[in-house]
Amino acid sequence: MTSHVDPSYIDPTQINPRAVRLVEAFKDALARLRDEEGLTFADLNAATALLQKMQHATGVPLATVAMPLYSELFQGGQDGYTPSNDVESPTVIHGSPHIDNPGTLPMRPDEPGTPLIASGRLLDGNGKPLAGAKLEIYHASDDGTYSGLYDDGVPTHNLRGHQFTDDDGRYAFTTITPVPYADAFASAVDGIPEAAAALGRSLYRPAHIHYEVHHPDLVAPWYGEIYFTGDPVIPVDFVGPKMAHPALLANTVLHGEPEDIAAHGFTGPYRTAQFDFVLKTRTSPETATVKETVA
Ligand SMILES: [Fe+2]
Repeated sequence: MTSHVDPSYIDPTQINPRAVRLVEAFKDALARLRDEEGLTFADLNAATALLQKMQHATGVPLATVAMPLYSELFQGGQDGYTPSNDVESPTVIHGSPHIDNPGTLPMRPDEPGTPLIASGRLLDGNGKPLAGAKLEIYHASDDGTYSGLYDDGVPTHNLRGHQFTDDDGRYAFTTITPVPYADAFASAVDGIPEAAAALGRSLYRPAHIHYEVHHPDLVAPWYGEIYFTGDPVIPVDFVGPKMAHPALLANTVLHGEPEDIAAHGFTGPYRTAQFDFVLKTRTSPETATVKETVA
């Protein structure tokens, strides 16, 4: 029966003091921005309207579209563990083919791009290898697009695959070197190029490889992107200059010696990229105690 509901009745057991405090603190922060930085209601409306337009153009959730505004704040990495995005990327496609370790990502016979051999180890917070972890791997092609997202004739799982780490926690695979890319839908939105330019940001994201790591011992699956040391797009990243956290950078080397190239079966220069993941398992300490390792 709802006929005698008192419209002023609030159930005290439903009140969440933390939520009340956070909303108040958020308003206080906005008031500070208004008073000290000249923030206007029109500014806030312009920002939310732009986010809405981007969401409409890209089809990804509004929460993901808003990430460039604040995700750097919550990225972690202070505890010695490889910072995780904690959420799956909208560019993932499940059911990718299994590849050997070492192996090669599925690619077209004429796949354009500089060959890349990516390798490293998966370690827990004590520096012990994480064996048998499932590594989901995918990245954009040399023209900056992901396979399987558009009806463009590219095989669904092109440059997508998964492999399992060996007893030493090692992974290794051959692919082509990803390049910086701009989200075609987002950058076509009215006002986005201007907003990026006004913030000193590029429309591009630095080159990266997406990984997911799944293993029963992990406290949570790891989701994220590994970037390349020295990528000039990192400081002007569309999503923010700190997204490519120093703990997410792979060391990369370009190899051009003809004998070396021939020994690897390539026809031109190739790259190597080395990156070790440090991941929190159920027996890992709060702060990782992994020593610098060279795999
Ligand atoms: Fe990406």
